[in-house]
Amino acid sequence: MSINVYKGNIITSKSYDELKVIPNGYVVVKDGFIEEVSESLDERYVKEIVTDFGDRLIIPAFSDLHMHAPQYTQRGIGMDCLLFDWLNNYTFPQEANFKDNSYAKSVYAKLIRDFLRNGSFQLALFTTIHYDACDILYRMLEESGLYAYTGITNMDRNSTDYYMDDTDESLRKTEEFIINHRNSERVKPILIPRFAPTCTKKLMLGLGELAKKYDLGVHTHLVESKAEAAWAKELYPEYASDGEIYEKCGLLQGHGPKIFAHVIFPSETEERILKEYDGISVHCPDSTSNVTAGIMPASTMHEKGLKIALGSDVGGGHFLGMNHQIARTVQISKMKEFYEESYKRIKLANAFYMATVTGGSIFDRIGKIEKGYRFNALVVENMLDEEYKTSLEDALERFSYIGDDRNITDRYIDGIRIDPEEVYERIKG
Ligand code: GUN
Ligand code: FE
Repeated sequence: MSINVYKGNIITSKSYDELKVIPNGYVVVKDGFIEEVSESLDERYVKEIVTDFGDRLIIPAFSDLHMHAPQYTQRGIGMDCLLFDWLNNYTFPQEANFKDNSYAKSVYAKLIRDFLRNGSFQLALFTTIHYDACDILYRMLEESGLYAYTGITNMDRNSTDYYMDDTDESLRKTEEFIINHRNSERVKPILIPRFAPTCTKKLMLGLGELAKKYDLGVHTHLVESKAEAAWAKELYPEYASDGEIYEKCGLLQGHGPKIFAHVIFPSETEERILKEYDGISVHCPDSTSNVTAGIMPASTMHEKGLKIALGSDVGGGHFLGMNHQIARTVQISKMKEFYEESYKRIKLANAFYMATVTGGSIFDRIGKIEKGYRFNALVVENMLDEEYKTSLEDALERFSYIGDDRNITDRYIDGIRIDPEEVYERIKG
């Protein structure tokens, strides 16, 4: 049994609306799990060595529930396009590069290093159609200690000749990937139909079979732009809307998480489906501003009891750091409030909750600095100011706006201190 005690300014969520702040508090970690969080150290632990982080913040690590691993190298490029031009001119050609395994190795090792640097320790990752590249990513994730859902990305129409699968080939690869990648504690397979316009009904029905057979969840893009929602409707005229395609084709019948990126234009059908299947809608504020054109009605959805997490959606988004997505969530919600008076903006505590608690909820006991949770945590420095009286809440807000990976001094996954550079050296091969 190993016990570690950490001291610092602890910030975690009390609820969706409220932060819990413990100045100079203690976190007792036993075998990777938080045993106690307190203002003063219980007598039972006074003999333990205390790692004192002084005035630094101790916060839960972030969950990035929508990110495209192969798009890491294209971030910040093509950002004046709308979705379809950006996909056709930048993204599909870039993703096609992952047929080359050495290219995949090089990009994915750096990506994993940078997830670790930025404190995103729980992930839902889109990939490419290439079995080997997906396998490389999966193995590297496992070696790194990160938590993730990933798999083969499916697309069998409306892409380019050089980057598209035949329906049977896509289903065969997906099943093989599931069979060969089912036994990890931390990295789990999930179905990834890219979005309705690039997937035929035959493919969707086949994936529905796999969802049932292997009890899997699904990760896709849902009503992410007006053009996309209209195109999905045109391609699947027999269904009421985008969301019903996944429901009626059987993709929501497994027990794994149902992760829907963007959900910018949810109809009543989408709202019903999200509720009925305990779906998580992933708000990706950078991407929404860059390529998808629209703002998720996040606060309205929250009021209706729907779950919302955050995603970087790199390369549609340009920053990997989820602290920036927290700030951007607040920023663009104010734009929506400005243009739609009835809309209620998102507060910092709400966005922090999305990036930690809701995002963490698809993993096992992750998302809070609280007894019983895994100690997946970040230590953040330099957010307090001598010249400006800064509360601890201010410090968290400031980290969201102006902080980056250089402000994160210590990183823990399951109570183990992680060094991103060491992991990178180990996995890059
Ligand atoms: N819709 C289909 N593919 C993509 C993608 O790669 N990024 C985003 N943001 N939306 C998509
Ligand atoms: Fe995306």
